[in-house]
Amino acid sequence: MKLVVAGSTGFVATEVIRQALSIPAITSAVALGRRDVPAPENSGPATDGAKLKSVVCENWEEYSDSVKQELAGADACIWTIAITPSKPKTAPWETVCKVCRDYAVTGIETMSQLRGRNSDTDKQPFRFVYISGTASQRDPAQKPRLLGDYSLLRGEAETRILDFAAKSQGAVAACVAKPGIISSPAKPTPLMRQAFYAVIGLPKLQVAEIAAALLDQVARGFDKDTLENADLERIGQKALQEAAADA
Ligand SMILES: NC(=O)c1ccc[n+]([C@@H]2O[C@H](COP(=O)([O-])OP(=O)(O)OC[C@H]3O[C@@H](n4cnc5c(N)ncnc54)[C@H](OP(=O)(O)O)[C@@H]3O)[C@@H](O)[C@H]2O)c1
Repeated sequence: MKLVVAGSTGFVATEVIRQALSIPAITSAVALGRRDVPAPENSGPATDGAKLKSVVCENWEEYSDSVKQELAGADACIWTIAITPSKPKTAPWETVCKVCRDYAVTGIETMSQLRGRNSDTDKQPFRFVYISGTASQRDPAQKPRLLGDYSLLRGEAETRILDFAAKSQGAVAACVAKPGIISSPAKPTPLMRQAFYAVIGLPKLQVAEIAAALLDQVARGFDKDTLENADLERIGQKALQEAAADA
């Protein structure tokens, strides 16, 4: 299968790409970002760096013909692009809305249209994962007190992505991933912050677990349209154990 990882320079995408390169079912991986990415470091012996194509996108509202050419025929996309909650004040609100919601909607619309109809897998839907967060809220009447506008924005993006798939008559399947705080051995969450997250009840997840879970789901099909932190942890741990047993 041909997989697109959008937001390829980011924390989660880097791990998704690293793992994808050692999964035989993924025959081609397009790393789509604002900048080129090199083949990841610390990859195991099963890694096939030749599967990776780094593609730079300069306009996320209307893809250039050359970018479209690289995306054509993709079977799935893991969408990681966002201005994350720690950063919204670094950009005007209008830009945060565009990046977190509109770019993703344009992404699913464009890539699903570009999917070739002659591929072996065209009986399967085009699979699209939108990574959101555990605190996102789809119901405007339930605006959270903490980061309320941001949580509703991410919830609106989720609704638009899921609606698009629901109206596609089976051509597109979408899934929203709602992780809590993601960390890695190389990027541990500072203790003070861990204590704060525990107080406000945010669950935790390892970056290897969410990457393995999303790769499992795009390859096998989605268990359900919304994967909560506990789902991602369970699916990810199982996939990592199976990969270790196969190695
Ligand atoms: N990390 C966590 O603890 C956590 C927890 C819950 C949910 N999430 C969600 O998981 C997803 C991935 O998070 P992450 O930690 O991997 O984020 P990240 O490291 O900040 O990566 C975000 C990606 O979005 C891209 N991006 C940002 N602004 C952009 C713009 N204006 N145009 C095009 N691309 C843009 C970045 O590109 P550049 O490198 O070019 O800036 C980067 O590739 C996000 O949806 C996030 O909300 C993360």
